Amino acid sequence: MDETIKIRVFRFDPDTEEEGRLEEYTLKKESGMRVLGALKALNEKGAAIAFRYSCEEWACGSCSMVINGVPRLACKEEIQNGMVLEPLPDLPILKDLVADRSKVNEKQAELYHLLKSKAGAKLDYESQMRMWNTINCIECDVCLGSCPILHTKGGSYDYIGPEFMVSLFRSQTDTRIEKNFLESKTKTGIWECSTCKSCEENCPQTIPINDFIVSLRQHIIEEQPVRVPPAIRDLNESLYKFHNPYGKSKTKRMDWAEGLNVPDIKENGKKGVLYFVGCAQCYNPRDQEVARAMIDVFHKVKVDFGTLGAEEACCGDVALRTGEMGLFEEIASVNIENFKKFSVKKIVTTSPHCYDTLKNKYPKYGGDFEVLHYTQLIEELIETGKLTFSNRIDKTVTFHDPCFLGRYNGIYESPRKIMKAIPGLRIVEMAESREKSECCGGGGGGNWMDIRTGERVAERRATQAAETGADILLVACPFCLAMFEDAVKTKGYDEKIEVKQLIELVQQAI
Ligand code: SF4
Ligand code: SF4
Ligand code: FES
Repeated sequence: MDETIKIRVFRFDPDTEEEGRLEEYTLKKESGMRVLGALKALNEKGAAIAFRYSCEEWACGSCSMVINGVPRLACKEEIQNGMVLEPLPDLPILKDLVADRSKVNEKQAELYHLLKSKAGAKLDYESQMRMWNTINCIECDVCLGSCPILHTKGGSYDYIGPEFMVSLFRSQTDTRIEKNFLESKTKTGIWECSTCKSCEENCPQTIPINDFIVSLRQHIIEEQPVRVPPAIRDLNESLYKFHNPYGKSKTKRMDWAEGLNVPDIKENGKKGVLYFVGCAQCYNPRDQEVARAMIDVFHKVKVDFGTLGAEEACCGDVALRTGEMGLFEEIASVNIENFKKFSVKKIVTTSPHCYDTLKNKYPKYGGDFEVLHYTQLIEELIETGKLTFSNRIDKTVTFHDPCFLGRYNGIYESPRKIMKAIPGLRIVEMAESREKSECCGGGGGGNWMDIRTGERVAERRATQAAETGADILLVACPFCLAMFEDAVKTKGYDEKIEVKQLIELVQQAI
């Protein structure tokens, strides 16, 4: 049945106006009407809104625009009452919803110009599958509009962005394309991506963009290691020598636990849970407090657990995401062997990065364990009545969804259920949360890189958090904790908003 709806559309004519505005329109929505259909219907009534389209079947990519704050294809999205339509971000506006794509075209041309002749290698099965995916790219720029790193660069394109990563990957595997992109200045951009998956989440062709980015990194590491940024080289060297990315001695791995009763998994392995502490919690002073809070909660709730003690080694996440596949495979095999040696069945992690790596990457190497992020374990303990809260916390909090918990693993509810169970806590959501959550910039090696200019990704996100009026920005990942503690200081919000790990609030409320 037709219904009357209202939508708001960005209108701007740079030839006659200083700035754009959102204009409200009322229209009749026919059943199944798409955004593109709504715009055409408004123009038939004389609205004269400028927008692009061609195929109307999600195949040409020309109708991309920002719909309710997220880049999307107008011919694919069903129109809804209250929708807001705007042009893609970071590009000059030609008129209304039409962004000037020439900057993207120029960059694309420049990249192809830099590719030089080289015979292609025979593709393995995985690369063949990826190649198929690159062919599906319709150059709609939705991924560019979704990329937090590009936003902080204001679309300067020093950082080449997800769409170009897809093209570059294709150039590496298509023997007709001459390929020596390693000579180009784009090499640095390849390590700027934080592997946040925002581009992939929004891509209308469901292209696994992150796989391409990691493959490009791997390719550079293997073929021209001299071009790897020093920070990334040092990081992986530390991992190789010390089994942690912080360059600290293996013997100091349990220093954080001094004076605490931390059982060894050797005694508990057959029945208990392995608490996989993670490198940040073992070596970084602020995260060590988080590990201690975990232990306190485990004891108070009588969780039967143990750790690997000094025998714990990094899960390998940073090697994996920065393209050091050989090193990652070695680390994964050693860890899996170790877990098996102590009959580990169930593992709980502090970090969503350890969680994703152990849960989703280890099975390929024979490591099939039940893996939980601590927010899942706490949720389980609350639901089974084993954990109850007796202290009120009269504070307003806002939760930042970590990419490796949210977009990578779809865990959005566990942290929210915990927050709701804590007496007194008021929860406010940021403008962008859950699937839309902006990244902190710490993944994919970002925690160790400082090559970004202008406003950092974490600073943008800290501003969103401060705008909610919350007293506490809650996180559930060590990289988010480090990035945001720094960002609230550099933005001058530290008097206003505190950054805490969710487990610290759990500890306080028990
Ligand atoms: S990778 Fe996906 S989102 Fe990006 S341009 Fe290609 S089709 Fe569009
Ligand atoms: S994963 Fe995130 S940072 Fe990397 S290209 Fe995609 S949107 Fe940008
Ligand atoms: S008009 Fe071609 S993808 Fe929308």
